Amino acid sequence: MAIDLEVNGVARRYDGPPERPLLWYLREDLGLTGTKFGCGVALCGACLVLVGDAAVPACRTAMGGLHGTAVTTIEGLAARDDPVIAAWRDAQVPQCGYCQPGQVIAATALLRTTPRPSPTQTEAAMDRVLCRCGTYQRARRALAALTGGRHG
Ligand code: FES
Ligand code: FES
Repeated sequence: MAIDLEVNGVARRYDGPPERPLLWYLREDLGLTGTKFGCGVALCGACLVLVGDAAVPACRTAMGGLHGTAVTTIEGLAARDDPVIAAWRDAQVPQCGYCQPGQVIAATALLRTTPRPSPTQTEAAMDRVLCRCGTYQRARRALAALTGGRHG
């Protein structure tokens, strides 16, 4: 059965194997390489994308379950004047950058569902993304600037 979905606001039809991970559809079929491959087992957060307003690991999300959904990648956020990306830029969060699409997606999902998150909610959302460069404190600073909260 064909899978009809939206990716970054564009209607798409997928006819391939239903078990294929969303990550490879995005990167290989659509050329959306901003979503990164890290662990492949839903542990590192490098591949997070939005499905609706939820941050999901694209490495472990099968195409077969995405009929009728709206997927947003970092490219989709970057195409508009995105406040999370702007806050990340202002706080100079990225170092090597590899984990940053996942961090921005995690923060976006958090703020869409919880505009003023508690420290516990922030940690739960952001702990999903591993950063080998240790940019956690700058990411928290960027989030605090977005929510008017404290960081650290
Ligand atoms: S590559 Fe998907 S969570 Fe690590
Ligand atoms: S900025 Fe390098 S892995 Fe996070």
